[in-house]
Amino acid sequence: MTNRPRRLRRCQLSVPGSSEKMMTKAAALDVDFVFLDLEDAVAPQEKRAARKKIIDALNNLDFGRSVRCVRINDLTTEYAAEDIIEVMEGARENLDVIMLTKCMGPDDITFCDKLMSQMELKLRQNKRIGLEVLIEEVEAMQRVDEIAAASDRLEALIFGMGDYSASQGVSIADIGGDNGYPGDIWHYQRQRMTIAARVNRIDAVDGPFANFTDPEAYREECRRAMMLGLVGKWAIHPAQIEIAQDVFSPRADEVDFARRMRAAFNDALARGQGAAQFEGKMIDIASVRIADRIIERAKLIGM
Ligand code: COA
Ligand code: MG
Repeated sequence: MTNRPRRLRRCQLSVPGSSEKMMTKAAALDVDFVFLDLEDAVAPQEKRAARKKIIDALNNLDFGRSVRCVRINDLTTEYAAEDIIEVMEGARENLDVIMLTKCMGPDDITFCDKLMSQMELKLRQNKRIGLEVLIEEVEAMQRVDEIAAASDRLEALIFGMGDYSASQGVSIADIGGDNGYPGDIWHYQRQRMTIAARVNRIDAVDGPFANFTDPEAYREECRRAMMLGLVGKWAIHPAQIEIAQDVFSPRADEVDFARRMRAAFNDALARGQGAAQFEGKMIDIASVRIADRIIERAKLIGM
């Protein structure tokens, strides 16, 4: 077993690393997780300058309770290694997690893990920086089990439906929307990735939804992901944060019910019973496992 830090990822806000204004705005928002982007939100000619802006933001802004992450360019680009080196060196302990894009297989995770370990040694840094990875290529989906198991530094898998659509040949009008497919077009991919994540005790997170002026459609996508066991969804705009953090939190009555059930089951066990009656229904250790997960989530959220 590893002792990975437990972090909230109900909402991961994407912020272009080239925009000081948006990074300043993001720092002041009440969001579980902020990632400052060096990849697609930054034009190629801005990439090097964006690294400096991101380091400044991490060192000078107070991000409050938010996890601070930087999304780096993929390993086929000229930027990736220097993204890791410069950001780790510049921000040191003001950084919590690095996010890798367009992972193609477990070797990519191993590469990042080793480079990050070298940097932690060089910087004499005791704080271990976490790693998470986007599953957004068919190659990654095919090997998602190996990827999820590749390093104990890995904390989360994220389904990136934008690039994934292009990779699989799915035609959608806008990222996160559907194309009239009968049913949920991402059902299989979300299931597949979430199972791989859960086997390795790491988080599964749902990617972006581009139409930030359609809160109802966004909420529905959050709900679909939440019901399959994903723990959160990306936001690309501040308007999406509250919705995701709401959907991915257990309701107060659910938490209360789970705690009552746990207590009732403990009493039953003390009486020597494995199955018991609780508020008119049967409970046993399986019901209590579900309840315990809700209790654990509630504790992490501070409910
Ligand atoms: N992070 C922080 N602040 C953001 C933000 C974000 N992702 N998106 C918008 N804002 C800010 C705006 O700067 C604006 O601030 P202001 O009121 O102080 O002027 C406010 O929120 C309202 O924004 P709005 O005017 O509605 O949108 P916009 O036209 O400024 O921005 C986008 C729209 C799509 C360009 C912007 O949301 C964005 O760049 N999102 C992130 C894109 C991204 O990261 N893509 C890669 C991952 S998929
Ligand atoms: Mg992508």
